[in-house]
Amino acid sequence: NLVLVLNGPNLNLLGTREPEIYGHDTLDTIAEALENQAHALGLEIDLRQSNHEGHLVDWLHEAGSRGVVAVILNAGALTHTSIALHDAIKAIPVPVIEVHLSNPHAREAFRHHSFITPVARGSICGFGALSYTLALDAAARLRQ
Ligand code: DQA
Repeated sequence: NLVLVLNGPNLNLLGTREPEIYGHDTLDTIAEALENQAHALGLEIDLRQSNHEGHLVDWLHEAGSRGVVAVILNAGALTHTSIALHDAIKAIPVPVIEVHLSNPHAREAFRHHSFITPVARGSICGFGALSYTLALDAAARLRQ
């Protein structure tokens, strides 16, 4: 009943990084809230963050081989650049839910394209930390 919550570059700086865009919650606060929510849903979460693309690729492979329920993925800026993450998602049988705190479509043009969206089960963006909550709810319902 494990859900991996994977976070890409710069998301370790949440709380102090452009709070007018990303809010004041830190990744630790988000992890704590998700842990409580997961418990109530009968799920477990494992939240990880890396600034390195290859770590995220490895973790997606791990999700595939461990038979996790779903992956919640905020790939950060790699969303807009990473064919490697696109391919890794395609290579695993696990549903991946794309999340973003901000709404990239309402921002700079270079954020309008996502390599994740076409291979994700679905995407949730623009709700701040609530995007993660909604994604975990979706993951719980996928399991049924
Ligand atoms: C982000 C949006 C991306 O465009 C940006 O590069 C990030 C964070 C978000 O959660 O809103 O690092 O994924």
